[in-house]
Amino acid sequence: MPRRKTPQSGAPSTRDSGATPFAAESAFRQSSGGPAGAPHARIDDAGVARTREVGQTVDGMPYNAGKASEYGPDAATPALGQTSKSPSPLARASTVRERNDTPKTGGPAAPGLNAVTGDLSRVRADAEGTPLTTNQGVPVADNQNSLVGGMRGPALLKDFVLREKITHFDHERIPERVVHARGSAAHGYFEAYDALGELTCAAPFAEAGKRTPVFVRFSTVAGERGSKDTARDVRGFAVKFYTDQGNWDLVGNNMPVFFIQDAMKFPDLVHAVKPEPHHAMPQAASAHDTFYDFISLTPESTHMMMWLMSDRAIPRSFRMMQGFGVHTYRFVNASGVSKLVKFHWTPRLGTHSLVWDEAVKIAGADPDFHRRDLWEAIENGAYPEWELGVQIFTEAQADTFSFDVLDPTKIVPEEMIPVTPIGRMVLERNPDNFFAETEQVAFCVANVVPGIDFTNDPLLAGRIHSYVDTQLTRLGGPNFHELPINAPLAPVQNHQRDGMHRQTVHRARVAYDPNSMGGGCPFQAGSGGYIPFPEPVPERGVEMRGKPARFAEHFQQATLFYESQSPAEQRHIIDAYRFELSHVSVPGIRRRMLSMLRNVSEPMAAAIAAGLGMPLPDPMPPAAVAPAAPEVDRSPALSMQAHPGDGGIASRKIAVLVTDGTHAEVVKVVTRTLLAQQADVRLVGEHVGLCAAADGEALDADAALDSHPGFLFDAVVVPPGEPAVDRLCANGHALEFVRHQFRHCKTLLAIGEGRRLLDAAGVMPDDGDTGVRYTATPDPATLETFIAAVAMHRHYGREESAAWRSV
Ligand code: HEM
Repeated sequence: MPRRKTPQSGAPSTRDSGATPFAAESAFRQSSGGPAGAPHARIDDAGVARTREVGQTVDGMPYNAGKASEYGPDAATPALGQTSKSPSPLARASTVRERNDTPKTGGPAAPGLNAVTGDLSRVRADAEGTPLTTNQGVPVADNQNSLVGGMRGPALLKDFVLREKITHFDHERIPERVVHARGSAAHGYFEAYDALGELTCAAPFAEAGKRTPVFVRFSTVAGERGSKDTARDVRGFAVKFYTDQGNWDLVGNNMPVFFIQDAMKFPDLVHAVKPEPHHAMPQAASAHDTFYDFISLTPESTHMMMWLMSDRAIPRSFRMMQGFGVHTYRFVNASGVSKLVKFHWTPRLGTHSLVWDEAVKIAGADPDFHRRDLWEAIENGAYPEWELGVQIFTEAQADTFSFDVLDPTKIVPEEMIPVTPIGRMVLERNPDNFFAETEQVAFCVANVVPGIDFTNDPLLAGRIHSYVDTQLTRLGGPNFHELPINAPLAPVQNHQRDGMHRQTVHRARVAYDPNSMGGGCPFQAGSGGYIPFPEPVPERGVEMRGKPARFAEHFQQATLFYESQSPAEQRHIIDAYRFELSHVSVPGIRRRMLSMLRNVSEPMAAAIAAGLGMPLPDPMPPAAVAPAAPEVDRSPALSMQAHPGDGGIASRKIAVLVTDGTHAEVVKVVTRTLLAQQADVRLVGEHVGLCAAADGEALDADAALDSHPGFLFDAVVVPPGEPAVDRLCANGHALEFVRHQFRHCKTLLAIGEGRRLLDAAGVMPDDGDTGVRYTATPDPATLETFIAAVAMHRHYGREESAAWRSV
């Protein structure tokens, strides 16, 4: 072999001469160091080939071409990241041996793949036909007995099967959410009505009919994970949209305002409402000293407190409550033009509530009332549905409002800015596993996609920080975004690495940007990525703590809310306040609350004071000096009665009371008619199982009077049959059943002798009470009026009758 002349140091002789300088072939596959030149193409070796391809990829980026655009005005429109195409995937491989695939490793990753994202079927497990194993996949021969040294001997430390099982069990619990601990969730989809490109480039609204998968969690705020569903409380209404541009979480509540105006006060609010620290009572209840101590010193909470004392705080079902984004957000279109928006979810079934006495009783009989209701509705195909609407307005409009749209204690009345429907959401699949999905889901206000942006609401700012921060602890480290329920459908690629419980196996040497060895990938998306709306900032502002003057007005919208309620709803607010403040033990706190409420409504405050046996104190001095006059003094949309629903009785729970001697034929006619309307009918007997009907048939009761009391049902039918009605009249549970139905303003139908049960229970409706119906036979016309009465949900006018007060 002819000897080559060694080039002079610094002389680019190879390039000049076209000759390839000599280097040992092995020099091109070292993990450290290497020759100056590129390996010759003839060298057929994977390691050398990779070195060659890395070199070619790196050469594609001779300098950082995007650097200049990071400075000055150009920075406002970030450039697409610079890339260099690699000749083959080998150039990006972590190891040249990746083609030596085993059943465990599989082959190389497909270009651009991150298998942690994607649909949930990649992690679902089903045990059909499989043996029990340890977590290491070792078949377990005996899952009944510990390993012992002799039949009566000691349990042995080497029993790894027992120790693995117990150790895993010992660590099954994770911390519950610091707020909103109790919740229930479901999968479904959001469907856009129209393309909204003019308004927003957010992916879910890209075209008419586009469907985006969602996971929705409803929750109470104050109670612990095992607390009751029917507490008087705000309900969380959190929607995770798995869009093709990443996850968007619209983390709202079933009330459109909040207690406080600044995130600084959130820990104080939560400490005040949670069980008191000395004795850990009361659970899932606001009716106690510390809460009202805080509230009565925080008058900006007055508006929210009206909602909290209203029936909105005791919904009949998650399926029957509205949801709100609360804060003012932004829609931003592809040209960067922004409008302000407020989000509203409105349920197809209408907004309906429990009454307080009923909520308290349900808490004992079925603490899972809302969870069960959601689960059963979806399993039975009665898919809950909401319409998404937005109030859209400009900053210029907002500047003219009497209130500040950055103040989360204020609504924008629909009379000022109407709600425009933009899509619907249907929940049609229950989770497979409560813990893996409902418990591990991590919503975060900061999860937004291009087209959605924030405003300077100071409460929102704190929330943008808070959720990820708490989830780091709750879900044990920084990789909870890889949990299947949290992983987006959109691809995920970045240079974040490591941390507890990392699941992605990154195939690359490169974990930094800029890089040329990975061909610049993953590269910044530039104008195709998320670009924050360029919100103007005050030119010469100073750092400070404080709130804008318009935030100081605390009472006008509380008054607007109260005055917009129906008489029954106003009555319930007064009753709720009486109840709550009756549980407060410090008279001075009650007094302060009354002085606050005098600024809302004089008659309301007087009625509450009468209920507490207290004189009215002076009104609380307002913080606002000469506030602007409100634009509207009534907003009908604030009453739940403005949202009666679609008028049907689908999924309403209706009890038909049966026992020995009941007329089976009547039961069948009634049941079939109600089932045809998709009601959820249950035969409630003195015990579950068979009873001997009057006509020689057997009726099979699926619930018992004592295990499924009246307050768990939306309506009751008492069929005829002399001996049956005699039995029911002598049964305290049956008497209570119909009394509760009457007291809770529900619909009762007595057929034939069935009326005697209502009489015996003291159910004496007024003439005008359409919610109590008697008939000799279950003729179609009567059943139709019964169905219409059930669809009305409640007959609150009854509460004004003497009969109601005496039952
Ligand atoms: C500064 C004010 C607030 C702070 C600091 C805050 C903080 C938190 C925290 C720490 C959690 C638990 C999250 C988790 O463990 O996954 C949570 C849950 C939640 N928050 Fe807030 N929150 C605030 C205000 C609000 C407001 C105004 C709303 C309604 C618009 C709201 C709605 C929710 C909902 C719905 C959840 C439950 C999410 C789920 O279902 O997992 N929060 N919040």
